[in-house]
Amino acid sequence: MSGQTDLQAKGAFSTHGPGGSRHNRITKILGSSYPIIQGAMRMITLGEMAAAVSNCGGFGQIAASGLSNDKLRAELKRARELTDRPVGVNIPIYRPNAFDALEISIEMGVKTITTSAGNPAKMMERVREAGLRVVHKVSNESMARKAQAAGVDAVVVTGFEAGGHIGRNDVSTLCMVPQIVDALDIPVVAAGGIGDARGLVAAFALGAEGVEMGTRFLATQECAVPTFFKERVCSASSDETFILGKKEMPIRVLRNKMTEQLEKMGEAEADEFLGKSGDSTYVTEGGNRENATMPCGQSVGVVKRIESLSEVFFELVGEAEELSKRLGNFFGGGEG
Ligand SMILES: Cc1cc2nc3c(=O)[nH]c(=O)nc-3n(C[C@H](O)[C@H](O)[C@H](O)COP(=O)(O)O)c2cc1C
Repeated sequence: MSGQTDLQAKGAFSTHGPGGSRHNRITKILGSSYPIIQGAMRMITLGEMAAAVSNCGGFGQIAASGLSNDKLRAELKRARELTDRPVGVNIPIYRPNAFDALEISIEMGVKTITTSAGNPAKMMERVREAGLRVVHKVSNESMARKAQAAGVDAVVVTGFEAGGHIGRNDVSTLCMVPQIVDALDIPVVAAGGIGDARGLVAAFALGAEGVEMGTRFLATQECAVPTFFKERVCSASSDETFILGKKEMPIRVLRNKMTEQLEKMGEAEADEFLGKSGDSTYVTEGGNRENATMPCGQSVGVVKRIESLSEVFFELVGEAEELSKRLGNFFGGGEG
């Protein structure tokens, strides 16, 4: 027996890098020190937040969704002022300004973009021509196969536990990640339900080579959401989320008075209401905890404190190392 698992043969693991970094195929694609991606969050993860994550050694990214072209340029410039490490841009492909966001990313020197909500094949010619790398978000195996065939460098597999937009098939991260790891040759990043080091190590055990986290980073000092949202994240348990817009574009949010009203409406009426209200209820300083749409995942239950991004990040990495040693001792036959 060669002692190599399938994952090793695919090049999933390599030697540790300098300065406590952990390198594998995902860090090579991202240019980061750790395979930890800060999930893009619409109108929340802007230049400062992305730079703070990248400065920790993770991969910070700016959500292009909802930003004008000038605002996207300004946020990329802000990130550049705050870090010289790679920062990405997340581009939802179905949005009308997706190709503008792509051109701005190229013009501003971004090396890796992430895409979501659409077919990445549409962008691949320009992406390749510009020498960009692209990580595409999927929520089932057939989307993952199509993304690989289109030529993306990696996929983020997001289970239905995740905050924000989720797939329509109600499949968990735990079940989906290993299936997609087996189905693809390109590396897989797990997203959805990962709130601490236990989730991170579990994701790697499933065969993921990176994790993307959104909900955990909401309760950080650097995150640009109102305090009432951060406080709800710290007090809510995992059963306090609700899926809005089930028929159209399902989105997991925190329960409040607004979701209670929508629950009473029935699916079609609720979808119509959401379609009409557009972005007007999306969480902003002007709203409050009872009327705002607060996208949030089920991992909310493990988030208990508002901390600085670096505290969250290095706790995550340190605890993952400890946990891996303990598991190695147990499953490797040591004393545990
Ligand atoms: C407030 C919020 C806004 C989000 N906005 C976007 C977005 O604009 N584009 C996107 O691809 N994903 C978006 N997501 C999903 C995240 O990028 C990430 O994949 C997800 O949060 C991971 O699951 P977790 O919340 O369980 O950590 C959003 C998530 C949240 C919580």
